Amino acid sequence: ALKRYRDASDLEKTWEESQIERARFNYGSKNKKQASDKDYPFVFENQIAFIKASVMDGDEFDDKKSHDDTTTAAAAKATSALDDKLQEERKTLPIYQYRDAFLQAVKDHQVLIIVGETGSGKTTQIPQYLHEAGYTKRGKIGCTQPRRVAAMSVAARVAKEMGVRLGHEVGYAIRFEDCTSRNTVLKYMTDGLLLKEFGDQPDLAEYTVLVLDEAHERSLPTDMLFALVKDLARSRPDLKVLISSATLDAEKFSDFFDSAPVFKIPGRRFPVEINHTLAPEADYLDAAIVTALQIHTKEPPGDILMFLTGQEEIETAEQILQQRTRGFGTKIAELIICPIYAGLPTELQAKIFEPTPQGARKVVLATNIAETSVTIDGIKYVIDPGFCKKKSYNPRTRMDSLQVAPISKASANQRAGRSGRTGPGKCFRLYTASNYQDLEDNNVPEIQRTNLSNVVLILKSMGIDDLINFEFMDQPPPEALLQALELLYALSALNKNGLLTKVGKKMVDFPLDPMLSKMVVASDKYKCSEEIITIAAMLSVGNAIFYCPKDKRVHAENAKISFHVGDVGDHIALLRVYNSWKETNFSRQWCYENYIQVRSMKTARDIRDQLEGLLEKAGIELTSNLNDVDAIKKCIMSGFFPNIARLDKYGSYRTLKHPHTVHLHPGSGLAEVLPRCVVYHELVLTAKEYMRQVTEVKPAWLVEIAPHYYQMKDVDDPALKKMPRGVGRIGKELLAAANIATFAKGVYPVR
Ligand code: CDP
Ligand code: MG
Repeated sequence: ALKRYRDASDLEKTWEESQIERARFNYGSKNKKQASDKDYPFVFENQIAFIKASVMDGDEFDDKKSHDDTTTAAAAKATSALDDKLQEERKTLPIYQYRDAFLQAVKDHQVLIIVGETGSGKTTQIPQYLHEAGYTKRGKIGCTQPRRVAAMSVAARVAKEMGVRLGHEVGYAIRFEDCTSRNTVLKYMTDGLLLKEFGDQPDLAEYTVLVLDEAHERSLPTDMLFALVKDLARSRPDLKVLISSATLDAEKFSDFFDSAPVFKIPGRRFPVEINHTLAPEADYLDAAIVTALQIHTKEPPGDILMFLTGQEEIETAEQILQQRTRGFGTKIAELIICPIYAGLPTELQAKIFEPTPQGARKVVLATNIAETSVTIDGIKYVIDPGFCKKKSYNPRTRMDSLQVAPISKASANQRAGRSGRTGPGKCFRLYTASNYQDLEDNNVPEIQRTNLSNVVLILKSMGIDDLINFEFMDQPPPEALLQALELLYALSALNKNGLLTKVGKKMVDFPLDPMLSKMVVASDKYKCSEEIITIAAMLSVGNAIFYCPKDKRVHAENAKISFHVGDVGDHIALLRVYNSWKETNFSRQWCYENYIQVRSMKTARDIRDQLEGLLEKAGIELTSNLNDVDAIKKCIMSGFFPNIARLDKYGSYRTLKHPHTVHLHPGSGLAEVLPRCVVYHELVLTAKEYMRQVTEVKPAWLVEIAPHYYQMKDVDDPALKKMPRGVGRIGKELLAAANIATFAKGVYPVR
């Protein structure tokens, strides 16, 4: 069957193309699926057939011994959380046997690359070993994570192992949340946060050791840290630098860090049986759910880990699984459903680590976070639909977008490996063996597929001006670099010589993307900083302010509409939501009545408080100008003038600069209004390219606010697709030279 499919597939579109289409379809039609949910006999009628493809070998291990070890460990976990039990458990981790050798290696070398399977104990143990060995006597140990949930959950775990309160000796810090104190010696943090600290204090004098963890992920901030830390290590011989990775190709890291030695922690992985579907699955979410129930009803005990692409998808899966298992009644064992994704509230995060009660089975619904950064014990079955959300930057439209895309072979293997940690496992791939062969070998580092304006702003603020010769592990595309420079110049963060301006310096103070921070800085001029930081905080929370229960849709929608009265646009509506909540003295009840998510509002309040503190630091006065809606809109435009779109004759929109077609998001308060000209916060790519968070603006404002970016003719003639003089016509020579001074003079009309 496999063979036949392989031949037939040659005639089809590439798998990637068709899967992306499907993914988009799935993503867009989420609600439909919820509605057409079926009861449990469906599971048996529509079984998914898998074909066993191969068995991924376990690493060398003493089967008997390690198995005993881990079962005792699991038993220990189940019975008590007492400190000595935890201490026993620590000793069962693969890294434990290499503790002394590891400490010796750290002593002998300034920079060390550490490689070990996920779950071997790198993240939780290394900082503790170093602490025990005295490295915290004169300073802190900082350990970075690309994901905030990982930083938080690992810190919580380590605090527990050390028997201290989280936030005291062991703490974490993520953007907008600092859970550390003066006594903190082990500090887990996001990589972005350490980057920020680098900006504030270039010698990072507080730290004696830096652990750049999850190096294999190659996240943008981690990549920048590689370069900065390498440089710092030269001037601070006392600083120890550890680069920790879950993949075995450590050569690249070693080469980059002047042939730093590689410390390998031998794995302890059990064999994993890999199963592929016979044919590609049209609806991977449904297939994943059916597979989970198939495992639950047919396979021996052991928890399930299902990889999905994001929060919405996870919530949908959670609902459907609940409905379907309810249909079984007591005929099947209990299925405990545990979601984990980036925005999951702290109080729910601990749930996934709780041991599964006897007789029950746990199914963890996770984003890519469970691929390497978080290890959940007891997983025996992995369901891998083959997708994740990936950020990509389109240099043509100059837009970042987050879209569902096929994973790489390396990811597929990491995912499969999650099932073989504590005993032999099984992985169910919801794609065929030949689909697997078509996957890219490795993930592309984020630096090569993202908007770089933030990176450039941060590096400039550190006084690093020669970006072309900056020592990145993998160079970013010069085009993206230039476009970032161009944007920052347009935002007046850089001057013609490519140096940081006063405005730019203020922007750096805010932990926001450059367009948002420009908006905040501009609020000084429009005398509406109170309103603007509220809007910035609400936008930073993301897309989780309003909620809409299925059975109360009409009420929820009416409540939402009430904030949009006067078609003020989504930004002002967010402001109204916040201010109304504030008027009720931040009432929880008010949130319920208005179908507003309390949790998101609290986050927004925290962010707003911090922005308020930062305003002061930047010397911007707190001023309110609530009734001058135009001033607020103009202020938004001061940051977001590149994001302008005009209505076209088909009822869709064309972006004004770098024209392409976009649409109003159906969730926008202006979706039915179709204003002539709008500013948008972001573009999201699902079934179509949608503008999210949209406000109507007057075209004439463009020449007032961004005369260097727009000219009268752009504004007068919507059909005119030509760009203003020079912008966008970047010569090849310029690219090669990447000389910001020439670039600014040559590309922008000198005024
Ligand atoms: O970093 P690495 O993947 O090598 O392993 P780790 O994150 O240090 O995990 C070591 C052990 O700690 C695993 O058995 C995890 O299940 C456990 N752990 C936990 O129970 N709770 C956490 N929040 C994090 C890790
Ligand atoms: Mg780890």
